[in-house]
Order: sequence, then structure tokens, then C-alpha cells
Amino acid sequence: MDSLLIRGGVPLHGTVLISGAKNAVLPIMAATLLTSEKCVIHRAPKLTDVTFMGDILKSLGAEVEVEENTITVQAARLTGTGDYDLIRKMRGSLCILGPLLARLRHARVSLPGGCVIGSRPVDLHRKGLEGLGANIRIEGGYVVATAPQLIGGDIFLGGRAGPTVLGTANVMMAATLAQGTTVIESAACEPEIIDLANFLNAMGAKITGAGSPTLRIQGVEQLHGAEHEVIPDRIEAATFAIAAAATDGEITLKGARPDHFGAVIDKLREAGVRIDRSGPDLIVKRGSELRPVDVTTMPYSGFPTDVQAQMMVLMALAQGTSIMTERIFESRFMHVSELARLGTDIAIEGPSAIVKGGRPMSGAPIMASDLRASAALVIAGMVASGETLVNRIYHLDRGYENIDTKLKQLGANIERVQEM
Ligand code: EPU
Repeated sequence: MDSLLIRGGVPLHGTVLISGAKNAVLPIMAATLLTSEKCVIHRAPKLTDVTFMGDILKSLGAEVEVEENTITVQAARLTGTGDYDLIRKMRGSLCILGPLLARLRHARVSLPGGCVIGSRPVDLHRKGLEGLGANIRIEGGYVVATAPQLIGGDIFLGGRAGPTVLGTANVMMAATLAQGTTVIESAACEPEIIDLANFLNAMGAKITGAGSPTLRIQGVEQLHGAEHEVIPDRIEAATFAIAAAATDGEITLKGARPDHFGAVIDKLREAGVRIDRSGPDLIVKRGSELRPVDVTTMPYSGFPTDVQAQMMVLMALAQGTSIMTERIFESRFMHVSELARLGTDIAIEGPSAIVKGGRPMSGAPIMASDLRASAALVIAGMVASGETLVNRIYHLDRGYENIDTKLKQLGANIERVQEM
């Protein structure tokens, strides 16, 4: 297993190119199962999660070719019996449920267990697909779905924590080939849902309202092949912006879509970080003393849960107290105990973390627990004095394309080593 050895104290400087979005490319890859024709996906990030998804599609009978950042998929014939060990490994694979059900009228997908960020229920996926006439049962740890035919309906997808991103993706994909019209209320509004709807429409689907809480999908007989460029990763862009501010550097984000992470930009500005547009690029630098700000995670267009851990590191550097409240996943504070090893003062009270900022951080061996927590620990390592060893960084490779190479190009003193 790899670790990252970081020598902190070097401000980041230079330009970084933002990759395609992980959480957009995964459902888009799943959507290629909806047609027997060839689909071409550009700006696909090279990530282990993307490789897994490619392997899952292959195990279902699709032909998958990857050339640099372009993925070509043709699911001419599908077997419907995928490699369940693979499917079990990645929660994102849940989004093959909708396409398989639409194309084959049956699907069997491993039920995602709880994970370190909290329990991961599937009740809304189930409710949505049942609303299209599918029969869903949980059997031996799998979600087993069958539907002699799918019929459009009115479906309310709001849950305890608001809308569901992959649930919306699943129901939207299944509804493209259902008879009649489906209306999803309380749909997720994330840019990744808009990107998926754009891809589906390019395949011949009839979807309107993507990006709003009401999605209308008029079912069609069949879909055809399409070519698509994935949106840039807003979470990667936000992570690099925070890294620049945390290290007191100045970086240019190339290819980012500021309109996709407005809530993060707003909070960073409130915290004293300067973010300026320069043509299509964004320039990020710490403008003045960092100020503590309170942050509550919310569904889009609120502050994303996927940036909570990184923002917490920045708040640990600001003089004063800030409160970070996690409203999407109930135990997404695994990074707090690891950050404590570096000298931070953060207390968890219910869904909130009370960050008493301004304590000096010094390097230590720490352990990554999930993807975004890992990114936060890397940022903390770049700030802490001395050496920080971040163990178990396979999480990072799941979701950040070449993160160590990109950070090195920005001047970070970071090296991939074999875990001891
Ligand atoms: N929820 C339910 N019932 C369901 C589904 C979800 O109650 O059937 C709840 C969840 O427990 C959670 C909330 O709804 O409290 C939101 O979960 P959602 O379904 O939106 O999450 P997801 O679609 O499984 C995607 C991203 C996550 C990201 C969340 C929230 C992908 C592959 N994953 O997950 O990304 O945190 O949306 O924005 O798109 C990451 O990239 O690190 C990551 C975890």
C-alpha cells in the first residue's frame, strides 16, 4: 500500500488543470448500458473508481476501451450477470441498477453496506424504481430488481437529508425507456445530474428540468450512441483552492467551473481568501489574515459535504472559533482524530465540529479514512511543520487524478512511498 510523505511549509504556486468530475463520469459510464450503440466519453479522469466501473461494464458484457482520457463503451449485448465482487467494492456502482433494469428488465446489484462516512441506505432508490413499476427486493445482500415493463409516474425523491444524487440518477436513467412521462419531485440539483441529463438527451432521451428540483422525463422507445465531454470536477477545484489558501500560496485553477462551486467560493471569500477571475481561469490566494467562518453542509447549491473536511483544515488555521456542521452524512468526521495528531483543537458535538483555530500544526504519521478526509489530511500535511506521513492513500487514487504529481508541480514537497 502506498503512503504520501509530505514535508510541510511550502506555499503552492503555479497552475493546475482541473480533471473531469468523478461523480459525473461514473453515472455517465453506467448510462452507456442503455444502448447497444457506441458511446464516447471525453475528459474521463484516470481514477481507480473509473477503472472499477469499466471492469464492471466489461463483466456485464460491454466492450470498454480507454485511451488517455477518452473512454469508449459499446454494450451491444448484455449478460446482466456482472462480477459481484467488483460491484460490491464501489458504492458508485449502485447506479448500474437503473440502466440494467431499463435495458434488461432485471438487475442485481450488491447492497452497499454502511461505510466510514455513515450508513448508506437505498430506500429512495427503491421507492423511485418501484414508482416506475419495478419489483425490488433485498436478497442475500443484493438489491434484486425486476420489471416486466416500466411505466412513468410521479415520484417524490426527497429524504431525511434532502434529495439523493445517485437515486435521482438511477430513476432518471430508468425512466428514459419507460412508457409515458415520469416527473421526479425533490430531484437532486447537482451539476453531475445536469451532466448526466445532457448525456442522456444526446442519446435521444427527452429530459427537461435538470438542475431544478422537478425533472420531467418523457420515455422513448430506444436510445442511441452519443459522444460527451464530462464537466470539470468541482470538488477537485475546491480542494486545490483550499490547498492554495492553507499554504499561503497563489495558484491558477484552469478549466474549473466557478458556477459549480459558488458556495465554496463564497465561504472562502468570507474567510479572507482572494478569488479572482482571469479570463476563463480562477486565481486563488490568501488575501489577508484568515477569518473563522461557520459552515453547514447541504445538498447543492449549498456547501458540499465533499469539501467539509478540507475546509476544516483551513478553519484550523484561522485565529478564533468556527463551527462546521455536517447535515448529509452522520459520521463524516473521521479526519478530526487524525488532525488532532498534528496539534489541532477540534471537538465534535453532535453533527457539529467546533474548531478552535490558530494552533500550530506539526507533522506526524496519520491515516486516511475516506476520499475527502484523505485530501484534507494531505492539505494539513502541507501546512504542518516537519514531516507528515499520510497512510492508506488508496482512497485518494479513487477520486483525485494524479494528485501527488499535480501538487508537486505546484511546488509541494510530496513523495509517494511504500507503506511501512
Ligand atoms: N439517502 C437516503 N436514502 C437513499 C439514498 C440516500 O436516506 O436511498 C441519504 C444518505 O444517507 C445521505 C443523503 O441521502 O444522508 C444524500 O446521499 P446521496 O444519495 O445524495 O449520496 P450518493 O448519491 O450515494 C453522491 C456522491 C458522494 C457525495 C453525495 C452527496 C457519487 C458516486 N457519490 O453519493 O460522493 O458525498 O452524493 O453529495 O456521486 C465522494 O465523492 O467522496 C462522495 C462520497
